[in-house]
Amino acid sequence: MAKKPVKSNPPVLGIDIGGTGIKSAPVDIEKGVLVGERYRVDTPHPATPKSMLAAIGGIIEHWNWNGPLGCGFPGVMKSGEVYTAANLSKKWIGVNITDEIEKISPCKAVVINDADSAGLAEMKFGVGEEYNRHGGGVVLMVTLGTGVGTALFVDGHLVRNTELGHIEIDGEDAEKRAAEIHREIEGLSWKKWGKRVNKYLQHVERLLSPDLIIIGGGVSKKSDKFFPYIKIRAEVVPAKLLNDAGIVGAALATEL
Ligand code: BGC
Repeated sequence: MAKKPVKSNPPVLGIDIGGTGIKSAPVDIEKGVLVGERYRVDTPHPATPKSMLAAIGGIIEHWNWNGPLGCGFPGVMKSGEVYTAANLSKKWIGVNITDEIEKISPCKAVVINDADSAGLAEMKFGVGEEYNRHGGGVVLMVTLGTGVGTALFVDGHLVRNTELGHIEIDGEDAEKRAAEIHREIEGLSWKKWGKRVNKYLQHVERLLSPDLIIIGGGVSKKSDKFFPYIKIRAEVVPAKLLNDAGIVGAALATEL
């Protein structure tokens, strides 16, 4: 019998747009790995559509890219339109970022929420793999960075744009206490910040009873420093793809 040809898909450029940096790399979306050295630029400030689109255009040029492209964006997104932008210029609201990227590049673009994209990567290639099926239960990915992002999966299906980073705890936006950037800004010890994260996760657990919580964002590689303060019933694990989850997941958005 003739051998089946091995299908090798062309890579997808993944762009992880954050409040602090914009990271990118071509991704093999079958294997979930970067196939080029990651390229990062600082998020311009003020983070307006004009300045950020110029930065995104520069990234596309850096890669000399004209193939498919997927992005994670730190706000609520519907069909490419930005609904919220908590840590960026409010001028983003109402902009269709997909259309704008397609105007400044030859690429076909798909843009989804950044936590949703990081979650897709962890469910397909990371610690969420065994939950990524019918009957797999409830998985919540929580990214701790400039903001607090969440991605909710029920039996492997993504419930998009959950925004549980903005639930109110003690009358305050949870993100303003638990985001990693506040540990830095306020000079908090790992213990103090870890207890804030714990309070946040306990609250979320009361609402959703997840089976698994995946902690993502750059700080996930320092989980040993703050996981000891997390005391909840659900299993809590650091993201396996660590900081690459954002880029890999951004590329996976093209598969939705
Ligand atoms: C935004 C979310 C985003 C998260 C992480 C929050 O402030 O509202 O959409 O996923 O930050 O970037």
